[in-house]
Amino acid sequence: MQISFADSRPAGDFALVLPAAGKNRLALDSLGSDRTAVDAALSRQRFEGDSGSVADLFVPADGGVRRLLVVGTGDGTSASEAAEKLGGALVGRLLVSGETQAVIDLTNLNYDADAAARVALAASLRAWRYDRYRTKLKDKQKPTLKSLTIVGAAADAASRWEERWRPVYDGVAFTRELVTEPANVIYPETFVERVQGAVKGTGLQIEVLDGEAMRKLGMGALLGVAQGSIRDPRLLILRWNGGKDGEAPVAFVGKGVTFDTGGISIKPAAGMEAMKWDMGGAGAVAGAMIALAKRKAAANIVAICGLVENMPDGNAQRPGDVVTSMSGQTIEVINTDAEGRLVLADAITYVQRHYKPTIVVDLATLTGAILVSLGHEFGGLFTPDDDLANQLLDAGQAVGDKLWRQPMADSFDKLIDSQIADMKNVGPREGGSITAAQFINRFVDNGTRWAHLDIAGMVWSDKPDTTYDKGATGFGVRLIDRFVEASVEAR
Ligand code: BES
Ligand code: MN
Ligand code: ZN
Repeated sequence: MQISFADSRPAGDFALVLPAAGKNRLALDSLGSDRTAVDAALSRQRFEGDSGSVADLFVPADGGVRRLLVVGTGDGTSASEAAEKLGGALVGRLLVSGETQAVIDLTNLNYDADAAARVALAASLRAWRYDRYRTKLKDKQKPTLKSLTIVGAAADAASRWEERWRPVYDGVAFTRELVTEPANVIYPETFVERVQGAVKGTGLQIEVLDGEAMRKLGMGALLGVAQGSIRDPRLLILRWNGGKDGEAPVAFVGKGVTFDTGGISIKPAAGMEAMKWDMGGAGAVAGAMIALAKRKAAANIVAICGLVENMPDGNAQRPGDVVTSMSGQTIEVINTDAEGRLVLADAITYVQRHYKPTIVVDLATLTGAILVSLGHEFGGLFTPDDDLANQLLDAGQAVGDKLWRQPMADSFDKLIDSQIADMKNVGPREGGSITAAQFINRFVDNGTRWAHLDIAGMVWSDKPDTTYDKGATGFGVRLIDRFVEASVEAR
């Protein structure tokens, strides 16, 4: 969808979008003599301007009719939140409506450049879809909306969009593509190839380790997961050096299980297809790096994606196997379906050894248990570090990638002690997301600040929301982007 900014409404046919903040219908003043009829029509459908509510009307125009969308932004929401509601709601309604052009008029709203640009961001995000394999879409199912013109925005809204938010759109779109693609298309090698294509011209540095290179480094935990698959694993490293020379980086580590059958501890058939998105953490980390590079973030960042496929096979690891991680710690693999933590363990050791980051944040679709705790409303946040917790909570709140902090404690850590090795990869069923976090914590060096985000409930949605259709959400990209921005601001 083409986005443009203009001083006044263009000539010709378009759907007009006007905001209404709660009971305040200031924007409707621009309707002139149609105002009375529109007000009556809004009352008749009990439109009260609630956040995200949409009234779809037609008004006379040049002897024909013009579609008029009145979009509610609610009372008392921040301008940026209201702006995203506007952009998202208008696209949700118009994308396949038959309308090809939309104009949203922000005159009188007093939005600053950022808020106006976030109308563009939310509209673009909501319009994203992946129709690559849908060869038989009926005309009525195809998107019609080609352009959105934003009128009445502050003068520098267009550059704010181009420089600050379009990069974020590009990052989220890339993540969604990776997450949406099935596992016969995206596996460790092809994940890397897609990233190589996406980073061209961004200034990101890329490095890739194959299975053999990881064997030499002693990454027995990650390799144990990979050994049941014919797909060779990869460790993908992306670097962005936008900060001061020599300043220690912040690291983001993503779980990239391109398909999770469970391995020998195989999952039930029903719903297993969802496990194509078990690389959502790695996808988010990769997409965030695209965003950070394209907006030229003033920070040093390193991203690590641990990419493996978890399959049952004659060569697959067995329950009870003991593996030695890169850290030297040994792990009894009680359940081969608790594979994400094994991948993260070695990826986190690698990033600490090679890059000495001050902060490590890992993102992973790690446990089904986090869905039991938090549903699809919040990602689980685990960290012993209160300041880091608050920084991540704030970042999530600011951009809509919401997190809820979960506890950690030594009493949970004890539950993964093993009889035969240093630890086992699962604890009891109860507190399953917490023992998973405690497991990862055992691979974090003293002095490294660390947080774990369990995003199993967030990377895929069965229903549309403001900034996404059903399907891949791109959760985590905006969170990372905002977290980095806030860290730079705080310096
Ligand atoms: N990828 C899954 C977690 C998952 C499950 C994400 C359902 C989304 C929906 C992870 O690898 C896994 O299988 N975890 C196990 C851990 C258990 C064996 C301790 C789980 O949650 O069942
Ligand atoms: Mn699993
Ligand atoms: Zn998994």
